[in-house]
Amino acid sequence: MINIGSYEERVKNFDWSIAEKELDYTQGDVINIGWYCSDRICQQGKGDKLALIWENAMGVEKRYTFDEVRRASNTIGAHLREIGVEAEDRVCLFMDKIPELYLGFVGILKTGAIAQPLFSAFGDESLHVRLDNAKTKVIMTQRKHVGKVRKILEKMPYLEHIIIVDHDGKKPLKERESVFSLNDREWIDDFDIHPTKAESPSVLHYTSGTTGQPKGVKHVHYSLISQYLTTKWVLDLQEDDIYWCTADPGWVTGTSYGIIGPWSLGITQCVLDKGFSAENWYSFIEKNRVSMWYSAPTAIRSLMKAGDEVIKKYDMSCLRHMASVGEPLNSEAVIWAEKVFNMPFYDTYWQTETGSMMICNYPGMKVKPGSMGKPFPGITGTVVDIETFEEINEPGKVGLIAFKPDWPAMMRTYWDNEETYQSKFVKGWYLPGDRSSIDKEGYFWFTGRDDDVINTGGHLVSPFEVESALLEHEAVAESAVVSKPDDVNMEVVKAFITLKPGFEANADLELKIMNFIRKKLSPLAMPQDVEYVEKLPKTRSGKIMRRLLKAQEWGEEIGDTSTLEDD
Ligand code: WT7
Repeated sequence: MINIGSYEERVKNFDWSIAEKELDYTQGDVINIGWYCSDRICQQGKGDKLALIWENAMGVEKRYTFDEVRRASNTIGAHLREIGVEAEDRVCLFMDKIPELYLGFVGILKTGAIAQPLFSAFGDESLHVRLDNAKTKVIMTQRKHVGKVRKILEKMPYLEHIIIVDHDGKKPLKERESVFSLNDREWIDDFDIHPTKAESPSVLHYTSGTTGQPKGVKHVHYSLISQYLTTKWVLDLQEDDIYWCTADPGWVTGTSYGIIGPWSLGITQCVLDKGFSAENWYSFIEKNRVSMWYSAPTAIRSLMKAGDEVIKKYDMSCLRHMASVGEPLNSEAVIWAEKVFNMPFYDTYWQTETGSMMICNYPGMKVKPGSMGKPFPGITGTVVDIETFEEINEPGKVGLIAFKPDWPAMMRTYWDNEETYQSKFVKGWYLPGDRSSIDKEGYFWFTGRDDDVINTGGHLVSPFEVESALLEHEAVAESAVVSKPDDVNMEVVKAFITLKPGFEANADLELKIMNFIRKKLSPLAMPQDVEYVEKLPKTRSGKIMRRLLKAQEWGEEIGDTSTLEDD
């Protein structure tokens, strides 16, 4: 039996109250995601069920039952309250995929504070921009990352506490630092969970746009309603499933579907805190008998590249359903999966802002390889004309993806940036900034983003951020950052630069510039290619035309150049 039953029927009879009823939630009640992910599952008699199976690169394994998640998160919550954390304070999680990240997330939500997960590979400047925007009060981190916090500490008077979760007690602590270890504490059974309501803020995730600093996407506890139901109907999680979401909770997939979705359904999930290789991944699936797997196109393409022989060494018969998110899933990857796993990857489309899945392929519905599928029941999704924003009714015609903004997990604003938030709405539609067409049968076909943001390996990179970092180097006069095609990552970052007089374009300088910006950018945003140019194409008003450079990289037609400056 598949959870969704029939997609068509669900669309006809849809109401979000279906999820509210299953979660015993009535409008106006208290709703706390932390409680739903642990205490409620224990109340249902599943306290002894495994919630988390964790393994790291050294082969160390840890397991937590739902009751342990409940008590460990209580203990973290109580500690946060003790040091003065109050409802709506921002508490940042800056850690690798260690158990404390997952338990801390649940603990923070229980206090009514806002969880702000940040990818642990960020350098100090990327970290600073995001903590500064949120005026974060507490950061929970690991010994190995605390150096980055120390570097920027002076610039952050609002940051009151730096909690180190794995300190060995040997090295001295610096200003504002303290040690908290779950191993040394008696776990707390009863914790007074903050009575958050539907609109109480829950999670703040940062995402990059074309211009300006990264934006803090604010979510609320009511998001649970959509995260729960999409997990149930799209990922089709069932009582005995062993679920593996490969995403890092520094990004939205890792929280919406790597914590909230599975745990609110009381499902056992695995986490692998170890680098990628086909062998690592297949053996993890085999060993833990993973039955439902949610991953991303870049990983899938890397697995494809590793070849079909390696799969034969492992028993993959445990898998019964697989899905993908984050970037275009090419039809080849779907067809390959059908060949080697006897089932397709089910593509899902959504974004940090939408908080939950929007356009998906559903169990039981025909998969058209290369298509993102159809809007989730209850979601009004369409494409609108790029200029007039009128709905397009012609099958196959490309327009902007548009949603009627009324689902529970929709962002409530961008932190301290209401103006940019408002700019996402036009004529009553929420525009996620992507282009697609819709075929005769209502399937969506992604064609690209509507802005200059680069999606490399499923991670959004703002060309502006990379250009700004480059411009800070003494040799760089101007820069333009665009994407170029790549077999595995779909696209990678390429930088064009012009030099200031007195600097010579050579490999040595390139290395120096790269080392300089490495400190400022996330490793994912680093250019894979740098080209020195004499001059960058510009409009008459002096704006750099990234579009031209991008077209050149992709071997596309250059299009309208009438606004190009005269030579
Ligand atoms: C952007 C959102 C949603 C969690 C991970 C990414 C692109 C997302 C797909 C897909 C083609 C996709 C879009 C979107 N994207 N899923 N199935 N096919 N493109 O979250 O970092 O906020 O990125 O990723 O461009 O707007 P995000």
